[in-house]
Amino acid sequence: MGKVVAIVSQKGGVGKTTTAVNLGASLAALKQKTLIVGHDPQCGVGVSFGIDHKSNGVGLYNFYLGEVPLKATLKPTQMDNLDIIPCNVKTSEEELSFLRIISSNIFILKSNLYQLRNRYDYIIIDCPPTLGTITTASLAAADSFIVPIQLDVFSLNTLGRVIKTAKRIKNSYNSTLKIEGFLLTMVDPQVRLTRKILDETRKNLGNKVFKTIIPRHPSLAEVSQARKPAIFIDVMAIGSRAYLQLAREIIESNQNL
Ligand SMILES: Nc1ncnc2c1ncn2[C@@H]1O[C@H](COP(=O)(O)OP(=O)(O)OP(=O)(O)O)[C@@H](O)[C@H]1O
Ligand SMILES: [Mg+2]
Repeated sequence: MGKVVAIVSQKGGVGKTTTAVNLGASLAALKQKTLIVGHDPQCGVGVSFGIDHKSNGVGLYNFYLGEVPLKATLKPTQMDNLDIIPCNVKTSEEELSFLRIISSNIFILKSNLYQLRNRYDYIIIDCPPTLGTITTASLAAADSFIVPIQLDVFSLNTLGRVIKTAKRIKNSYNSTLKIEGFLLTMVDPQVRLTRKILDETRKNLGNKVFKTIIPRHPSLAEVSQARKPAIFIDVMAIGSRAYLQLAREIIESNQNL
């Protein structure tokens, strides 16, 4: 049975999609059958694999409209062991209907992912920068969640709300939901303030913070333009190695369960 991991944060631009895409690709490179679900109308996951959300292929929106089963939206990628489900919402009207359908049945993704779980070791869900309907449905479907944190004071201030939301969802929709880990992203170790916040984060969040730290590095900024995961551009780049290390950390901690 695959493990479903949602990538969540209400803050925009903290590296959720970068993490979903590069962690997913790294898990696949380490021989884990992996699916990445683009559960965000911004469609970053599809774009990162060269699928334009305006193209006419079948995607998550067609599933939510009841036109196709979730299975029909699976797309293979250039990597062995890695499939994606792109989000293909094209207009703001479609986005509204997308949200309406999800809020009318918050368990629709959970119940349909359930049928796909035996095909994969990991299913990673990329969420939008809100703690609203889509993130709620993603956390209802997930076994665990990762919170990327960009090390600035504002990020730390918003962390409390993510934890509160997860607790609310655990109490109302998903009693077994767990924290997979807080992930420090876009870290620039040369900056003195960063070090201070880093120490403080570790003190406050303890062993829930991944040992792996994702540095700020151009190899990761290139992903959406190159339209492929960083390990496909250069497996030895600092960014590629950081996400491979994160994938190893996650595989190891799940083996120990
Ligand atoms: N470690 C990194 N080093 C350098 N650039 C990065 C890194 N991680 C992400 N980026 C860049 O930062 C920007 C925001 O990243 P990303 O899209 O992953 O964030 P997000 O949390 O998914 O944003 P949104 O909330 O809008 O969905 C992107 O341009 C991405 O290429
Ligand atoms: Mg994103």
